[in-house]
Amino acid sequence: MDQINRACDFVIFGALGDLSRRKLITSIYHLERSGLLEDETKIIGIARRDETTASFIDKMKSSLKEFLKWDIDPEVWQRLAARITYVKINLDRPDEYYQLHDVLNLEERVTVNYFAVPPSTFGDICKGLSESRIINDDTRVVLEKPIGHDLASSIIINDAVAAVFAENQIYRIDHYLGKETVQNLLALRFANSIFTTNWDHNAIDHVQITVAEEVGIEGRWGYFDQSGQLRDMVQNHLLQILSFLAMEPPVKLDGDNIRNEKLKVLKALRPITIDNIDSKTVRGQYTSGFLKGGPVSGYNEEEGAQDESNTETFVALRVDIDNWRWADVPFYLRTAKRMPTKLSEVVIVFKQLPHNIFGKSNRKLSPNKLIIRLQPHEGVEIMMLNKIPGIDEGVKLQQTMLDLSFSEVFKVERIADAYERLLLEAMRGNQALFVSREEVEQAWKWIDSIQDAWAELNEPPKSYPAGTWGPVAAVTLLAKDGREWEE
Ligand code: BG6
Repeated sequence: MDQINRACDFVIFGALGDLSRRKLITSIYHLERSGLLEDETKIIGIARRDETTASFIDKMKSSLKEFLKWDIDPEVWQRLAARITYVKINLDRPDEYYQLHDVLNLEERVTVNYFAVPPSTFGDICKGLSESRIINDDTRVVLEKPIGHDLASSIIINDAVAAVFAENQIYRIDHYLGKETVQNLLALRFANSIFTTNWDHNAIDHVQITVAEEVGIEGRWGYFDQSGQLRDMVQNHLLQILSFLAMEPPVKLDGDNIRNEKLKVLKALRPITIDNIDSKTVRGQYTSGFLKGGPVSGYNEEEGAQDESNTETFVALRVDIDNWRWADVPFYLRTAKRMPTKLSEVVIVFKQLPHNIFGKSNRKLSPNKLIIRLQPHEGVEIMMLNKIPGIDEGVKLQQTMLDLSFSEVFKVERIADAYERLLLEAMRGNQALFVSREEVEQAWKWIDSIQDAWAELNEPPKSYPAGTWGPVAAVTLLAKDGREWEE
């Protein structure tokens, strides 16, 4: 991927907010520590509160103390603090953006504006920046999710930003694209001939994508209840993983080529409508249960819950991709809150062999499986059959596992957080790790159809106790196709 390092003015809108405190400042600290920030790069925090640069820097240091999992290195912090400036701006007051002329340097540095604020304010910021003439053709904007809650609302947000910025200036975040293991999907698929030639309906029986979360709603009930797991996780993260797994090889590893290939996959997703909603989807919601030995509340008893809500916290889907490569190869997707453990993984289940010559001692040959552990314990496993050593019992086979753990093999000190990579790539101007407008809108179109069908069906979600793998119906979803979830 092209890497162009240029000094930049990194402007954070919503600099005192949760995302900025938890993720952005900690990521910038790690970039500083790794020597990845250009000498002249500046960090500009923007919020509406009365702060001075000194008091803002103090607040950022407290955030680091709270969220950095390491001790703060005083030298690194000193270098970082020297880059920081605070500017107070009310986002809906275009006249206040003029202050940025005193801190930004459009000639010598690229401005990267990070919108760590609700999407309803994106239009105001774009207007403020444009009216105060503090942008040029190099200026970039980084947009946090959610880009809308359906196709119509995402078009309004995208239009508001497009009124000021061209698509090649817009970087839409899906933080899963910054995860090391998600990026490694490209390497696995396109750098290894054993997978390039065995990656279609001839070799693969089906694919499972699981993104299980242990956490519940964590004080975000108000937001989450308007969204639900389908919009919060499937529309973005799971469809991005699916696109990486299913896409054709891009001509080059650049933004346009990768994004176009992903888009083709999204366009080939078979619509789920009222006609097939029952056989293709399972919606669930957690009730009270036990996790890690302690009791936890149900979704409707969570802090901030207002009434008996039918919002789903569990989704399982059978997804079909209508193209040549994936004919008759279902992709089963599953994601939920309050599962027994945090685990994201992909399982590629290969086809059964057409004939078994070991039938005497082994009536059934288990299929090969490629298991890609996205998080935690990042790594790759291959399940295969081997002969049990010995001379007395004929050929007895046993399923064995080749296990490649990234932390053991690569001996890296730590795996960078997704946000570190994304901030760096936005500074470098590499759009490959960001989502295009067409992708966002195509994904919403497909999700809207499911959401509409659920609304028409008007059935409550199936309940599952917190700390379990979801409603029984999710097991049935695969069982009726003669398959089962990999546990
Ligand atoms: C966010 C969702 O995008 O991803 C959250 O809004 C979810 O609800 C989170 O918990 C999961 O991210 P990760 O990196 O912890 O898997």
